[in-house]
Amino acid sequence: MRWWWFRIIRLPRRFLWIFALRPNTKLVSINFPNNPTGSVLERGRFDELVGLCRKRGLYLFSDEVYRLIERDESIRLPQVGDVYERGLSLNVMSKAYGLPGLRIGWIMSRDRDVLQRMERYKHYLSICNSAPSEYLAAAALRGRIGFGRKIVEAGNAAMREYMENLRQRGISS
Ligand SMILES: Cc1ncc(COP(=O)(O)O)c(C=O)c1O
Repeated sequence: MRWWWFRIIRLPRRFLWIFALRPNTKLVSINFPNNPTGSVLERGRFDELVGLCRKRGLYLFSDEVYRLIERDESIRLPQVGDVYERGLSLNVMSKAYGLPGLRIGWIMSRDRDVLQRMERYKHYLSICNSAPSEYLAAAALRGRIGFGRKIVEAGNAAMREYMENLRQRGISS
């Protein structure tokens, strides 16, 4: 399988930065494990990206909703909010916890100011979450009830079997 990648390299000044970083860039947004490719940034490149954002004082918004259900657990990245003071980690109950109906998600960051501003905006958009959803989400998180891993493992096994079947029929190598 061919993986999708991008390279973080410093270009000569006149080309600005790859990644379309401009002098007025305030935030970089990433999504790993990625939807739809499933790819995960290599740890070295991830650290490079964090270093780049730190150097430029940029927020790094990381959609991590597929974290914990990587195809290979050994390539799991840390949560951006844990490793970078301006990191914003987005997560949700829909994927790894298999509870999409709750409609509960969260942003984790060490930047209290930005969290407070987000909270105000959230209150502006809706009155509150559903209390039963919050209760069930807290119970699932406390008990680490996650169905996502099992679903991924079952999916991987089915895919292996399917590929093996194609190979035996001479359709794939
Ligand atoms: C990358 C990514 N982020 C966020 C979401 C939103 O998740 P939810 O369905 O819980 O709103 C999705 C949903 O598929 C997604 O693929």
